[in-house]
Amino acid sequence: MKSFLDWELELHSKVEEVNEKLLDTVRSEEPDLDRMARYTIEAGGKRFRPLLTILAYESSTDEPYFKILDLAAGYELIHTASLIHDDIIDNSPMRRGRPTLSYKEGINNAIVVADYLFAKAYELGSRYGPVVSKVMADASSRLAEGQILEAFNLGNLNIKEETYYKIIENKTAHFFEACAKGATIAANADLNTRNMLSGFAFNLGMAFQVTDDILDITGDDKYTGKPTFVDIKHDALTLPIIYALHNSEQADREKIIGMINGSIEIDKDLLKKIFLRSGSLDYSFGIAKRFITTAMEYLKGVTRSPDIDLLMELALMVIDRIEIYR
Ligand code: IPE
Ligand code: IPE
Ligand code: MG
Ligand code: MG
Repeated sequence: MKSFLDWELELHSKVEEVNEKLLDTVRSEEPDLDRMARYTIEAGGKRFRPLLTILAYESSTDEPYFKILDLAAGYELIHTASLIHDDIIDNSPMRRGRPTLSYKEGINNAIVVADYLFAKAYELGSRYGPVVSKVMADASSRLAEGQILEAFNLGNLNIKEETYYKIIENKTAHFFEACAKGATIAANADLNTRNMLSGFAFNLGMAFQVTDDILDITGDDKYTGKPTFVDIKHDALTLPIIYALHNSEQADREKIIGMINGSIEIDKDLLKKIFLRSGSLDYSFGIAKRFITTAMEYLKGVTRSPDIDLLMELALMVIDRIEIYR
């Protein structure tokens, strides 16, 4: 079993290679486009999806991981492009610790840069043939479906938990699943390995989004690189908000509703207290942990073992992030 230090070093060098590939890919002869694309890539991010892609590949084949770098970078470009659009939609000023592209360069330019990144991503994906390309394209379509379902439920105080799960399945979990699916297909893995790693990644994605939705309330922008309470300001009813609405005293419930519909100014400290006393943070954290447990069950079904330890560490990282608030 690898030590934590070995593990960190190994992941670090992989992230560096992904970053090089990203910068190389987005280069443009049009100086302003080049500058804006670089700004976006250089802001960093956790690079979770490319790591997942690489580790899923390594868990499925003895081929060296450089062979999957293009696909890993492709997924990161789609993700990054979707965040540019998401920040326009959410009217969010900060991303990855820097002003969002739309705040810095204007919405029109940000839209075009994101389109450019999408195009570059599909070009990278196409290097793995039509089946992998389709997996990648389907993930993007799902993402759009998730974003639209969310958009049409903004401010819907009667939203059901099932609808929330459908939103996050589409906008996040299927995307994670596609990272593993694309990588295992490119690796020519057997069907069992493909299914197990895809199931792992899907559940990891569910836990990842629930965690992100908790961090929107409890997070610290020094660690997350983005502001808190964007969801409530933007009327997106996430799991902790839905639970708090159903499980708070009437007075607290009225305050949450007032802050959602804008009749009461957002009071972050008060909101945090209301969420805590409703039990919604613990409830949501419990759900995230359940998705991680399911993800781990899938990993047990993967027979090739060398990189399973790393995938388990990756999964634990998702819920460990939450400990910051406790
Ligand atoms: C943010 O994704 C959007 C969600 C699906 C929650 P990340 O938390 O992976 O963002 P970066 O890439 O690290 O900035
Ligand atoms: C949307 O989720 C991101 C996508 C999956 C496209 P969020 O709106 O929760 O992402 P953040 O919190 O802005 O990173
Ligand atoms: Mg957002
Ligand atoms: Mg969020």
